[in-house]
Amino acid sequence: MSPAPVRGRPPRDLQPPRDLARGWYVAERSTRVGRRPRATVVAGREVVLWRAGDGTAVVMDRFCPHQGAALELGRVVDGALRCAFHHWRFDAGGTCVAAPSTRRLPRDASARVHPTWEGLGYVWTWVGSAAPEYPPPDFPHLDRRAPAHRRYRFAFDTEAPARRVLENGFDVPHFPVVHGITGDLALSWDTDVDRHTIGARITTDSIALPPPLDRRPGGLGRLCLHLRSTPSYQVLTFELDDRPVAHELLAVTPVTRSRTTMHGWTVMPRSGGLLGSAPVFWGYRLQHWWGTRADLRIYRDAEETDGSINTPDDEGVLRFRQFHRRWTDEGPGGRSGAARGRRNGVGGGTA
Ligand code: FES
Ligand SMILES: [Fe+2]
Repeated sequence: MSPAPVRGRPPRDLQPPRDLARGWYVAERSTRVGRRPRATVVAGREVVLWRAGDGTAVVMDRFCPHQGAALELGRVVDGALRCAFHHWRFDAGGTCVAAPSTRRLPRDASARVHPTWEGLGYVWTWVGSAAPEYPPPDFPHLDRRAPAHRRYRFAFDTEAPARRVLENGFDVPHFPVVHGITGDLALSWDTDVDRHTIGARITTDSIALPPPLDRRPGGLGRLCLHLRSTPSYQVLTFELDDRPVAHELLAVTPVTRSRTTMHGWTVMPRSGGLLGSAPVFWGYRLQHWWGTRADLRIYRDAEETDGSINTPDDEGVLRFRQFHRRWTDEGPGGRSGAARGRRNGVGGGTA
């Protein structure tokens, strides 16, 4: 007789992702974090998400410091997370505030809590050794008091590392090949940006539409993609003839070495003209979905390279990587990379 199958979840690949910036990443959508604790994985680390009595979102290590029970089996009692095994309770700062079977609260029995910021519909965190080294995102277009707009939220899973997702917008030569954007694409860099931001404009004087939509002489107009990226999230603005058509917040959850979730919002101003109309909104949304699927198909089986084989057209990606490396533990500002950062220089930064 064969042995009974072992029940429970299969083992998971929890290899931590490489190349993570010391900054804000999405842990989960805000609506998925409540008083019922929920386990998840961020940057290869198992954590539990829950809300304290005042509604503050908490990102805490998943296993109880007492005897290691999974804390999502517990519940929130008097604003603190109560472990299901022996009813020790941990507050939003991780301090053990109750241990019913003992007279004295055990010393050093705190649960590790990670820095958290909540905004733009997400709970953001950083689970690395240090606190995030730059501020969380500012994306005022989502504000309910902002001028009338239409918006949608998106999420996609990919095997690509977080850095590849963020560098994609700077990869000029892939736009005609993967996204069918024709015309002479020109890249220019922003100089008036914060140290934690890299900014670029990719422009083409006239973007042509595929048949049968190509009736307008001279194409659709002058297109500009304005990118402002930190090492862990970015804001993209698409402009047509200098009018903003769409603002996008793109953020990521680095789950494990082989999985990243892309999250974000697209916000399109409403207006009386064609550009602010519902058909353009739905058309934009469809091409966004389609274009992202095209990128994901490439990401799925792509391998990491060191970027040493390239052409001048690869400047966008290489410069983004150089910027990104400064914020990782491999980069010049990190634990191990001072020499490597100098060796791999690919042009000036924006800081
Ligand atoms: S394992 Fe959590 S209270 Fe004992
Ligand atoms: Fe792309």
